[in-house]
Amino acid sequence: MSKMEVKTSLLDNMIGLGDMVLLEPLTEESFIANLRKRFDHNEIYTYIGSVVISINPYRSLPIYTPDKVEEYRNRNFYELSPHIYALADEAYRSLRDQDKDQCILITGESGAGKTEASKLVMSYVAAVCGKGAEVNQIKEQLLQSNPVLEAFGNAKTVRNDNSSRFGKYMDVEFDFKGDPLGGVISNYLLEKSRVVKQPRGERNFHIFYQLLSGASEDMLKKLKLERDFSKYNYLSLDSATVTGVDDAASFRTVRNAMQIVGFMDDETQSVLELVGAVLKLGNIEFKPESRVNDIDESRVKDKNELKEICELLGIEQSVLERAFSFRTVEAKQEKVSTTLNVAQAYYARDALAKNLYSRLFTWLVNRINESIKAQTKKRKKVMGVLDIYGFEIFEENSFEQFIINYCNEKLQQIFIELTLREEQEEYIREGIEWTHIEYFNNSVICDLIENNTNGIMAMLDEECLRPGTVTDSTFLEKLNQVCADHQHFESRMSKSSKFLNDHSLPHNCFRIQHYAGKVLYHVEGFMDKNNDLLYRDLSQAMWKANHSLIKSLFPDGNPAKINLKRPPTAGSQFKTSVATLMKNLQTKNPNYIRCIKPNDQKASHIFTDSLVCHQVRYLGLMENVRVRRAGYAFRQPYEACLERYKMLCKQTWPHWRGQARDGVEVLLKDLQIPAEEYSYGRSKIFIRNPRTLFSLEEQRKRRLHGLATLIQKIFRGWKTRTRFLLMKSSQVTVAAWYRRYAQQKKYKKTKSSAVIVQSFIRGWKARKILRELKYQKRCEEAVTTIGAYWHGTRVRREYRKFFRAHAGKRIYEFTIQRIMQKYFLELKNKTPSMSPSDKTWPARPYLFLDSTHKELRRIFHLWRCKKYRGQFTDQKKAIYEEKLEASEIFKDKKALYPSSVGQPFQGDYLEINKNPRYQKLNSLVEEKIIFADVVNKINRANGKATQRIFLLTKNKFMLADQKSGHQIKSSVPLAELTSVSMSAQSDGFFALRVKEGTTAAAKGDFLLNSERVIEIITKLYRAGLNLTKEKIQIEITDEFLVQFKQDKVCVKFIQTSPKNGTTASCKRKNNRLLEVTVPSP
Ligand SMILES: Nc1ncnc2c1ncn2[C@@H]1O[C@H](COP(=O)(O)OP(=O)(O)O)[C@@H](O)[C@H]1O
Ligand SMILES: [Mg+2]
Repeated sequence: MSKMEVKTSLLDNMIGLGDMVLLEPLTEESFIANLRKRFDHNEIYTYIGSVVISINPYRSLPIYTPDKVEEYRNRNFYELSPHIYALADEAYRSLRDQDKDQCILITGESGAGKTEASKLVMSYVAAVCGKGAEVNQIKEQLLQSNPVLEAFGNAKTVRNDNSSRFGKYMDVEFDFKGDPLGGVISNYLLEKSRVVKQPRGERNFHIFYQLLSGASEDMLKKLKLERDFSKYNYLSLDSATVTGVDDAASFRTVRNAMQIVGFMDDETQSVLELVGAVLKLGNIEFKPESRVNDIDESRVKDKNELKEICELLGIEQSVLERAFSFRTVEAKQEKVSTTLNVAQAYYARDALAKNLYSRLFTWLVNRINESIKAQTKKRKKVMGVLDIYGFEIFEENSFEQFIINYCNEKLQQIFIELTLREEQEEYIREGIEWTHIEYFNNSVICDLIENNTNGIMAMLDEECLRPGTVTDSTFLEKLNQVCADHQHFESRMSKSSKFLNDHSLPHNCFRIQHYAGKVLYHVEGFMDKNNDLLYRDLSQAMWKANHSLIKSLFPDGNPAKINLKRPPTAGSQFKTSVATLMKNLQTKNPNYIRCIKPNDQKASHIFTDSLVCHQVRYLGLMENVRVRRAGYAFRQPYEACLERYKMLCKQTWPHWRGQARDGVEVLLKDLQIPAEEYSYGRSKIFIRNPRTLFSLEEQRKRRLHGLATLIQKIFRGWKTRTRFLLMKSSQVTVAAWYRRYAQQKKYKKTKSSAVIVQSFIRGWKARKILRELKYQKRCEEAVTTIGAYWHGTRVRREYRKFFRAHAGKRIYEFTIQRIMQKYFLELKNKTPSMSPSDKTWPARPYLFLDSTHKELRRIFHLWRCKKYRGQFTDQKKAIYEEKLEASEIFKDKKALYPSSVGQPFQGDYLEINKNPRYQKLNSLVEEKIIFADVVNKINRANGKATQRIFLLTKNKFMLADQKSGHQIKSSVPLAELTSVSMSAQSDGFFALRVKEGTTAAAKGDFLLNSERVIEIITKLYRAGLNLTKEKIQIEITDEFLVQFKQDKVCVKFIQTSPKNGTTASCKRKNNRLLEVTVPSP
């Protein structure tokens, strides 16, 4: 056991007391008060040492979850709060690890939770034991055997809706690893009377209702059954349905479970046929039929039901019918047949039904065993679970109670025996002196019941076998004789006068003082029930059935194996099986679960003190506690004890270095606990009184408070100090980092300043050096250059004469010079005449002189012209200007023009101011005459010409009569002249157009003809320009319009060959056309 595992204990956070052993003072009141307190806090489990008391909570508590399984798994029994899982775990581990076969004994009255407890144990073991497909299948089969047995063996009673009506012991077998291998189930004492009769408010076995509710129509038909419960006499009607129970669904569950467990389909069918047959048996009724010799004989009333049963079971109807009417007794090789009266017939019917059912149940158990049987011959470890009735003390107690209570008496005995044995073994193991333990040993009661010579059971058997009239009262009489002196036996007759007044003890009763209390038994029915008689005719009839299952159930009906010896009585059968069971249990390590029912209402949260008190008494729980703490109330391994209480002593706290035992010794001495209060075992400390333990616990609690404060104090101090240290170290770190940063910054700044200063200085220095170097270099260069030049000069001077490099150029230049000289000289000699009109120019001698040659020609020409112009007088200049004007106007436009170029413009051809003939005209004109000549004026009517004198002054032109020489025919100011038209031919015709609306315009335009047309027009143009600053329009075209008075006449010029005359002639063609023929030049 490692130290860590002992950290928790049952003693922690206890509600009330987790272990009754610690109860102080130990009284029934304190016992029940503790149970109640725990129950009120949902603590339904309480220990008495290693015994678990379980109180039925009547509601599901969240304490069976997989988490809980994990919590209790592999933990020590006293480590956690009491739980059925702790017991299951302890048992399983002890089985697996220490190789000890286990049995779990679950007792308690009906409805106390035994069956649930057994299921919880099984499910816990299933959850913690091995895993794997095969193992799981075994587990499944073991668990699924429950629903099957519950359907056939459980019924609703007033105490429990699912009350087991049989005792059950199941051995689960494990291999060496702790994996389940299989199991064996034993059943005890099925309450078969329930088949034929149920007390008020109770039901028959579940299977009947399940079959009728859950079977398909088809199946019901096959079984010849009807769904209606009320059709069957054996089914009580007042509580046929149970609230919260779905019989139909349960039927499916059962069939499914049967399949899992391994029932074949035809087996299941046979079982259900038998169940049906039992139900139908109840419906067979009898009627009396008087016979001659006055003996009552019974007859089956309605043979239909009988017929159906026979069909169902494959029995010949007559055989069964006969078996219900006659009874054959064989004695001394003689067969005597007697008739049965109606009551006997009913008795026989019910006996058959009960037998049939109970044998079927036993068969079922065997069949299940066959399925769940371990498949190996190897040694197995066994865990037995016993779920059996606890003590039953009813108002009326009969044979069944007697048997059950006997069984419980035996269980108590084995409990005491085993507990004491274990106790003693532990003392021996631990080396503690065995002190005698005072306790009540109930073997004397067992003896009263089972003693072979004068025990109650022996008496009963004797009475049953005795020939002659035997009744229940003869049996009682016998008891009175034999057992009268027994201190636990009481009857009205046994103890003379003492009981005569005791009205609680009626005449037909006897009372046994069981270890758990006194029980009054009514003797009525003892004989019958013990005999458990089934007439042989009936068993033979069953054996004859053509139905394999029913045949196998009644082997005693086989006439070949007829046995004249009576079958063992129910009592002796039970005694034997109990003896076997006890023997079996004795070889195993027992684990007890004591179930208690808290109330009679099947209600949660209700705790009825009186009821619990009653159970505590008959379960012998007080006895349990006493036995348990007969010597020492409490024991604990040294390690656990030291671990738990070490803080109570300076030497052991916080660590004890030596042996745990020495530590405990030091501890107990230090605490000054009286020496008689404890004993040192080999591995455990034994504490005599719970008080001592509690004082230890109390001191521990107080000390824990102190320790908690101490731990808190130290922790707080530690926490604060840690924090402080952390902060301090943080501060140092921060400061260090900051200093580093500041220094770094400062250093960087200084460094950069230094670098700047340095760089400036370096720069300044470098520049200075550079300057010096440059200067030096320049000096050197200068010296070098000068040297070089000087050297070069010297060398050139010396070597010039040897150089021809420039010869080419000089030759070239020379040659060019010569050529140019020659060119210019030649040009001089060949210069053309000074006349500007001379176009000649010597040819170009060399191609490269082309542009020069042209330029020289141009210069020459300009010079020549300049020279030429320089000779001119102003008069001549004016003439030339006019000539130039004329050229601009007419050149290349009029064919006449070239011929005019050579003729000088004389202007006044008539010499007006000299010629006397024109003296008068001259005086008339007054202005200076620019031009005067005779022209032809074309007659507008016929195109004939008349001569006129044309005069031009700078302001106007005039036409004067030529003949008279002075008459001015028309005078037109130049400002009124708009345009002049003429042909492009060599003719001298021209038209002068006058502005419309002027006085001159009245006569229309003038069409004139003159050889000197060029001069006239030029002068007219110049005069007009001088006067008006506007150019007179000059139109040169071969066809133009002339305004004659109102008409416009077209003048058209036509070229003719020269042979038609050399002068141009004008002819009027029509009103509109004047045709001028011009000979081509
Ligand atoms: N541990 C438990 N938790 C919840 N309900 C329980 C518990 N034990 C018993 N019961 C209830 O009590 C009823 C009777 O229990 P059962 O085990 O059949 O009693 P017994 O076998 O002792 O006659 C159960 O059907 C169930 O409803
Ligand atoms: Mg039960």
